[in-house]
Amino acid sequence: MNKIPNIINGQKIAQNIISSTATKVAKFHKANNVRPGLVVILVGDNPASAVYVARKEDVARKIGFSFTLKQLPNSASQGDVVRCIQGYNAQQDCHGILVQLPLPNHINAMHVLSSVAPNKDVDGLHPHNFGRMAMGLPALYPCTALAIMDCINSCLPDVKGLNVAIVGKSNLVGKPLAIMLSNMDATVALCHKDTQNIKQYTQNAQIVVVAIGVPGHITRDFLQEGATVIDVGITIVDDVATGDVLFDDVASKVKNITPVPGGVGPITVARLMANTFDAMVNNWTGNNKQD
Ligand code: GUN
Repeated sequence: MNKIPNIINGQKIAQNIISSTATKVAKFHKANNVRPGLVVILVGDNPASAVYVARKEDVARKIGFSFTLKQLPNSASQGDVVRCIQGYNAQQDCHGILVQLPLPNHINAMHVLSSVAPNKDVDGLHPHNFGRMAMGLPALYPCTALAIMDCINSCLPDVKGLNVAIVGKSNLVGKPLAIMLSNMDATVALCHKDTQNIKQYTQNAQIVVVAIGVPGHITRDFLQEGATVIDVGITIVDDVATGDVLFDDVASKVKNITPVPGGVGPITVARLMANTFDAMVNNWTGNNKQD
């Protein structure tokens, strides 16, 4: 049937979010003489993280944010990182704090993420925001899961009653996405490395989301005809950014699919900007979504 799939244009979706955020930033700055302040904390020297952070800085500066990159050495202790965060928690011109993951092995990521003030938690990973999201309440939601929802909604505006298989149950992607989709009345199978016969879930799903970091793992036999496939994986293989889905193998079977690169990634950055703007406005108006 579908020989040529709809390739979801992540760059275009991201650009729309960035443009609308830029317009809001300019308007807010004119009215209040305040710009969104985003701080990214980068611990250690992971080369991929350095690239991702540079992209965030580039977009943030282009749309009129004040951006601070706080780099800590690989040898920084958990206490050092927490103290650094506490400093920004108290700083009025900082509206959003993102701790770039992964952190070095000697640092407990959950402990660190929990030390970010919930109203500055633009990554949406603090248990406060995560819990509110689970209850379907307003909060700062995780950027990658929001970006995946943008991809899905660009071709399937209503997920009610659809079967979704998510492969990968990380706190960063799989778990928050499963919560968001179930809040929207989709039926979600959250699969992981111990799931027996993953294909029985993916073949039953109209939407398959893959976030495992195993290049080319998902082949056409995992999918039903006409599926929508969102590929969140990005691994550098022979200098090429490679997704978890074997694109050329599945292309003639699926209806909608994200490319890698140019799919979920750029939208995640755009969603971070939108979250930071929202965090600033919520603080400004005293509505910090804590109530
Ligand atoms: N590393 C890869 N993706 C992300 C993300 O969405 N947030 C953070 N904090 N780190 C990441």
